[in-house]
Amino acid sequence: MTMTAASTFVLPADLDAFIVGLPKAELHLHIEGSLEPELMFALAARNSVAIPYASVEDVRAAYAFSNLQDFLDIYYAGASVLLVRQDFHDLAMAYFERAHADGVRHAELMFDPQTHTDRGVPFADVIEGLLSAMAEAEARFGITSALILSFLRHLSEEAAFETLAMAEPWLDRIAAVGLDSSEVGHPPAKFERVFAAARAKGLKITAHAGEEGPPAYVHEALDLLNVDRIDHGNRALEDEALVARLVAEEMTLTVCPLSNHKLCVVDDLADHPLDRMLALGLKATINSDDPAYFGGYVADNYRAVAAARGLSREALATCARHSFTGSFLPEAAVAKHLAAIEAFVPES
Ligand code: HPA
Ligand code: ZN
Repeated sequence: MTMTAASTFVLPADLDAFIVGLPKAELHLHIEGSLEPELMFALAARNSVAIPYASVEDVRAAYAFSNLQDFLDIYYAGASVLLVRQDFHDLAMAYFERAHADGVRHAELMFDPQTHTDRGVPFADVIEGLLSAMAEAEARFGITSALILSFLRHLSEEAAFETLAMAEPWLDRIAAVGLDSSEVGHPPAKFERVFAAARAKGLKITAHAGEEGPPAYVHEALDLLNVDRIDHGNRALEDEALVARLVAEEMTLTVCPLSNHKLCVVDDLADHPLDRMLALGLKATINSDDPAYFGGYVADNYRAVAAARGLSREALATCARHSFTGSFLPEAAVAKHLAAIEAFVPES
């Protein structure tokens, strides 16, 4: 499998080495969004699925988005090549190889079961393919990982309940539930009961909020879904009282700089609010979201904000610390990773 070109974010070599070497967790990654065009073509051929592209270059040329929905239409179409257990395994292994190269020690993978079960792919094949790759990644690379089952918010709450029921036999293998897809018009309130049911089953909670949706959606995620963290959260910055609350509650935000740029949440990376979030005391982290579609994996997201906003090593290390304190890892594992960061920072 050919890899995409090396990073387009050119930094001084020592800063680049610092970013890659820094122990980090990735908390906001849609595994379906790590489907590189090369693998899309290989799976389309293996599964005899027709895709509307003539070449890998053709696929990449289609990745110009002016908003979230533009992207989602292409992302769901791309996922149609994923049909059997081995496909999900291969998809996740390709991600773990990239994550390992980027210095990721722990990854929390979102997956969208409804994107697959609605096409007739059994839930068991989706999750067993991912789980076998997660075991292989731990054995080969020492990367630990967890699964976040994400509900598609453009579908009904009833459909989310059906998905939660399908997951029942694997609940001990799932860390959390999440909420993704088209945000505006689908507020967290729509899913209050299914998140309460998931919480009652012992699952953690995360939700996309404030990517395109207003600060009110972030309030709802806190008040109605009882989230353990917020995915994106950019628009919380429009509401001073909300920022104060997120700071007081030490709420982790899983920020995705390249995604924000590609989906026009920020017009220019030079205006990205990551360092402002840190200055306000928010627990911001750096993540890739859908790396195959947005132009880079987690280290590229660190590079991009470092280059565009001049983030210091200390600020980058703070984001890495937040990635572990905001993870769903047990306390002892968090402490081990934090110690690894403290050992790495002075020697680098
Ligand atoms: N936002 C919302 N839903 C998504 C995204 C995103 O960035 N990526 C995959 N599903
Ligand atoms: Zn996302």
